[in-house]
Amino acid sequence: MSPSKTPVTELSGNGKLVYGCDYNPEQWDSGVWQEDVRLMKTAGVNLVAVNIFGWAELEPSPGKYSFERLDEILELLHANGIGVNLGTGTSSTPAWLTTLHPDILPQSASGTRAWPGGRQAWCPSSPVYREHALRLVDVVSRRYGSHPAVRLWHVSNELGCHNALCYCDVSASAFRRWLVDRYATLDALNEAWGTTFWSQRYSDWQQILPPRVTVSTNNPTQMLDFHRFSSDELLGYYQSETGVLRQHSAVPVTTNFMVTAHIRNQDYWSWAPHVDVIANDHYLDHRLGSPTTELAFAADTTRGLAQGLPWMLMEHSTSAVNWQPRNIAKGPGEMHRNSLAHLARGADGLCFFQWRASVQGSEKFHSAMLPHAGTDSRIWREAVELGGILEKLSEVGGTTVSAEAALVFSWEAWWAYDQESHPSSDVQYLDQLHAAYKALWDAGITVDVVAPGADLSRYKLAVVPGLYIVRDKDAAELSEYVRNGGHAIITFFSGIVDENEKVRAGGYPGAFRELLGIRTEEFFPLPPGKTLALDNGSTASLWTEALRLEGAGAKVSVIEGHLAGTAAVTRNRHGSGDAWYIGTALDPSALRDVVVEAAAGAGVTVLAPPEGLETVVRSGADHSYLFLINHSEEEHKYVVQGHELIVGEDVPGIAVIPPGAVRVVRITNPTP
Ligand code: GLA
Repeated sequence: MSPSKTPVTELSGNGKLVYGCDYNPEQWDSGVWQEDVRLMKTAGVNLVAVNIFGWAELEPSPGKYSFERLDEILELLHANGIGVNLGTGTSSTPAWLTTLHPDILPQSASGTRAWPGGRQAWCPSSPVYREHALRLVDVVSRRYGSHPAVRLWHVSNELGCHNALCYCDVSASAFRRWLVDRYATLDALNEAWGTTFWSQRYSDWQQILPPRVTVSTNNPTQMLDFHRFSSDELLGYYQSETGVLRQHSAVPVTTNFMVTAHIRNQDYWSWAPHVDVIANDHYLDHRLGSPTTELAFAADTTRGLAQGLPWMLMEHSTSAVNWQPRNIAKGPGEMHRNSLAHLARGADGLCFFQWRASVQGSEKFHSAMLPHAGTDSRIWREAVELGGILEKLSEVGGTTVSAEAALVFSWEAWWAYDQESHPSSDVQYLDQLHAAYKALWDAGITVDVVAPGADLSRYKLAVVPGLYIVRDKDAAELSEYVRNGGHAIITFFSGIVDENEKVRAGGYPGAFRELLGIRTEEFFPLPPGKTLALDNGSTASLWTEALRLEGAGAKVSVIEGHLAGTAAVTRNRHGSGDAWYIGTALDPSALRDVVVEAAAGAGVTVLAPPEGLETVVRSGADHSYLFLINHSEEEHKYVVQGHELIVGEDVPGIAVIPPGAVRVVRITNPTP
């Protein structure tokens, strides 16, 4: 467990905000390196991640090392005042290793072994991989553990990006060991997994396998436990690298998380205590309805993992990525808006993948700070400009975001909610969570993202979307919070099962029935495109339920079909707080109205900014910083008094934010 987090600004070398990138000099002749470093200084880069994919270059054959080029790079960066975020280099195995030990390669649920030739092709439980990788970490950390350029260790890379779930026999044994730890006896496992169903009872531990492809559907608790195991397994791997690093180096250690919409295999609530710096990689995902609000959600979640302290954006892109079906390039100013949205939400460091665009390999059409076009390009000019902006925003470093509302998010709920054989495959956890988050974002309500069971006492409102799986104690704490005057909004398909995926019988929403003062007998998911009219003029889609009021009042009801007269949104007084239930997918404006009414009732400040204007405040001891990010094509005005830092002018009463621009207004805190 990491004793305390390292302040991100310490990693810049001058106490300022970190500005940096992944740097892959191994892809270039050393002649290019001098130019790289000169241009890095022009852009204001102060930290670069190197050696992420360095294994084959450092150890070209088993036990034979070649450090000359990495030595030279570290010296060059150091001589130019640029710090190093040093990769342990273990992310991708060299060809000799998988040729010698093909059993390292991970296996899919259908039994297919991955071939080498891509990246991260190793089984997280493989002792052979671990032995070789830790030997490399040992050699690298002995050599560079006290190098003056090295400010941070970067363990592996995006652990679990491609190899989180391995179903091979080695993983099966590791899974069984994990299950013995969790359940101790087979009887306990049989009970937890409900193995009387479909004759699935186990009479020997050896019979238990990872949830490989079957001819029907797998046991849901086995699936859930396999997710839990797989997250723990890679965390264990992370800790084994950290253990080696700590023997030879006092430099802080981290790895880059993937708090993002398309990767969900690590439960970062359990990982976060083990890293010295919370670092995230985030890319705009154009497959989503609202990529910008998803960015904000990911940033708020990362801040949640950092317990509210500043964190580091380890990777994002200057423009297009290469791995979506259509790789949408960022328009003028969009990169600044994205980067500064992360900063507004608590990042004290902004880094890109990558420095110089590759000309070979599968990422050659991924954007970079220095694009194929070279320095005479918009991307390069914007990258240099961003470095200048960060310089002007230095004083924001170390300040924190404070929120009056919390949003409860759980990777475990995500795994469980989206399993097969549920009432509707159109209803997915993240969609519902994003819808709730967007309603808050649109209303200008900043939220802290917290884990189930987190202490909510400092919040006026807790928003709990689709918490399908919930432990008794976490449900009880939420009830207690409301009883003591807190306010909650809970959305449908919450409280349904316990931690073993066992339905809480007696009526839905199980764990939250009493808190919400309702009881649902049956779910009625709607077919795609079908809507039902509601008495507030909006519509219900995707999901409805036969909900009975047992103490709660109806706020919105269905007015057509066989559920006509049934409540779709309810409010219940519980102790001295209110518990709201949203029992359908409301259209966005109706959802925002409900959220705003509940928030206002809870005493939460609703900034209600004009459409497309993102507003977030970071606060320090003497000053607060209001970030005004204009995502729209209209000019916006905002009432505030202070000093604007990017343009550098006083704001006597109204800030003007041109279309697409960002303004950061320093406000003097009132004297207490
Ligand atoms: C991830 C990886 C990088 C690179 C980028 C591309 O974040 O860590 O190595 O592949 O994706 O978007």
